[in-house]
Amino acid sequence: MSSHKPAPSSVDIHPLIQDRWSPLSFRPEPLTKLQIQQLCEAARWAPSSYNDQPWYFLMAPRDDEIEFSRLLSCLAEANQVWAQHAGLLVLAIARTTLTRNGHPNRFGMHDTGMATIQLVLQAEAMGLKAHLMGGYNAAQARAIYEIPESFEPAAVMAIGYPGEVEKLPSELQQRERSERSRRSLEQMIFTGKFEQSFQF
Ligand SMILES: Cc1cc2nc3c(=O)[nH]c(=O)nc-3n(C[C@H](O)[C@H](O)[C@H](O)COP(=O)(O)O)c2cc1C
Repeated sequence: MSSHKPAPSSVDIHPLIQDRWSPLSFRPEPLTKLQIQQLCEAARWAPSSYNDQPWYFLMAPRDDEIEFSRLLSCLAEANQVWAQHAGLLVLAIARTTLTRNGHPNRFGMHDTGMATIQLVLQAEAMGLKAHLMGGYNAAQARAIYEIPESFEPAAVMAIGYPGEVEKLPSELQQRERSERSRRSLEQMIFTGKFEQSFQF
């Protein structure tokens, strides 16, 4: 069975956000072109500083064996173990300069992250799951995909249908079943000055 790990939230939040989590188990099934386009369209409509849209996404669908294995090969081994079953691997890339004047865009990574979470939540709304990874060789990805200097590889995403926990290696099953945790609101929501907790 696939795991359901809703966030134990202090108050009601939207089910899309509550139910999103990063699973290790995926059913090895490709996504359709339409599904992939829907994910990308959701990312496309993210907000960005100056509407500069600094995000780019490199797609490696499961049914394109060459592309899938090329991006898979960039992942850390610990990530390859489970990500190899995803229906789609995606490399997010951030442009670090503004198109309007070539100046550094200090929101390049930030805005690419915003587009990324839109893609992730769209996946969730479509009954898919997504798991982000920083554990990959960015230099290798830069070389393989000929990513220019003023662009920065961001995160890799594994996206697909939720799989059965029982099919994972036993040590990963344990991780898959572990509780989700977060710092408390008091530790991150301030007012007046830094580290002065906001009282709800
Ligand atoms: C930028 C980024 C990099 C991450 N890198 C990895 C990774 O390399 N391997 C992994 O298994 N999970 C990775 N994760 C997933 C996080 O561990 C996960 O989001 C976090 O533990 C919270 O769990 P949740 O997403 O299930 O709420 C990454 C997440 C983000 C946003």
